[in-house]
Amino acid sequence: VAILFLSDADATGAWAAALERELPDDEVLIGTDAARARAADIDFAVVWYPPPGLLARLPSLKAILSLGAGVDHVVLDPGLPAGVPLVRLVDPALTEQMAEWVAMNVLRHHRLMPFYAEQQARAYWKRHDIPRARERRVGIMGLGVLGQAAAAALRPFGFPLAAWVRHPRPWTDGEIFAGPEDLGPFLARSDIVVCLLPLTAETRGVLNARAFARMPRGAAAINGARGGHVVAADLIAALDSGQISAATLDVFTTEPLPASDPLWRHPRVTVTPHAAAVTLAETAARAIAANIRRCRTGTAMVGVVEPTRQY
Ligand code: NAP
Ligand code: GLV
Repeated sequence: VAILFLSDADATGAWAAALERELPDDEVLIGTDAARARAADIDFAVVWYPPPGLLARLPSLKAILSLGAGVDHVVLDPGLPAGVPLVRLVDPALTEQMAEWVAMNVLRHHRLMPFYAEQQARAYWKRHDIPRARERRVGIMGLGVLGQAAAAALRPFGFPLAAWVRHPRPWTDGEIFAGPEDLGPFLARSDIVVCLLPLTAETRGVLNARAFARMPRGAAAINGARGGHVVAADLIAALDSGQISAATLDVFTTEPLPASDPLWRHPRVTVTPHAAAVTLAETAARAIAANIRRCRTGTAMVGVVEPTRQY
């Protein structure tokens, strides 16, 4: 029985070691050449951006396990084998990092740090008034594993919270908005918007000119999800008009973000290099191995993607 590991991540050796530690009776194969040579032996594929069509050529495949919480890198493969479960990564270490990143950036925007950084660059001393946290409304797009952890991290500060989801449900920490018809009212009540959605056909481009226009004037936008959620030209126009006061972006449609991209140099954009929540080999291998064991014993795996929803 062989487990295929396919990723452009540089720490391939660390990954192989971590998977072998967790699954000592399995052979770990690495890379596309091994995948082609041993196609019939591969039971499970652990992947990040697999080459399109490759997974369809593995006849014994029982599950595809994503190296990230997002599965857009697999769902976009037009040759994805039908009937093979696709599983996203649910790893407490990843979740913890995203909660930290969101809390840090909501506080940065709440406390006007992007403006103070701009002032510091000009050696300009001016203090600005800010509302209390209880008056600064934070809206989280996506209340899944990461959105819930972000909300829990923000709760102690007292920001009025709301979340935009697909399926309405009760939520004790704030107000729930669900579905396309609730998007406008959700954005209209959010002074700081945090995107933690999966990238799907429904969510691509959701933060566009219309969305920015619906936010209160001077709102801030934080994207920790995928670059495809934001229409960058619309964001820049909204920043330049003052409709959006500042933005923090961790993810981009092209990564690494090209040096010529205007987002790098916009005075009110903070860029981080897809670093909000980084998959760690040791903890992720543990979560992935637990799912492989569940699959082998006929138990439900954690994080199975619903194919029609794409998340
Ligand atoms: P998840 O548990 O699957 O949660 C997804 C959430 O998005 C759910 O609350 C879902 O609503 C909501 N949603 C999906 N489609 C929607 C739509 N059309 N309209 C409104 N709400 C919608 O995902 P997760 O584990 O929290 O991860 C979220 C994303 O974070 C990943 O897909 C990945 O792209 C990104 N990510 C980024 C980094 C980074 O370093 N920047 C790291 C990890 C993950 P329901 O609850 O109603 O189903
Ligand atoms: C990272 O972007 C992930 O999807 O885990």
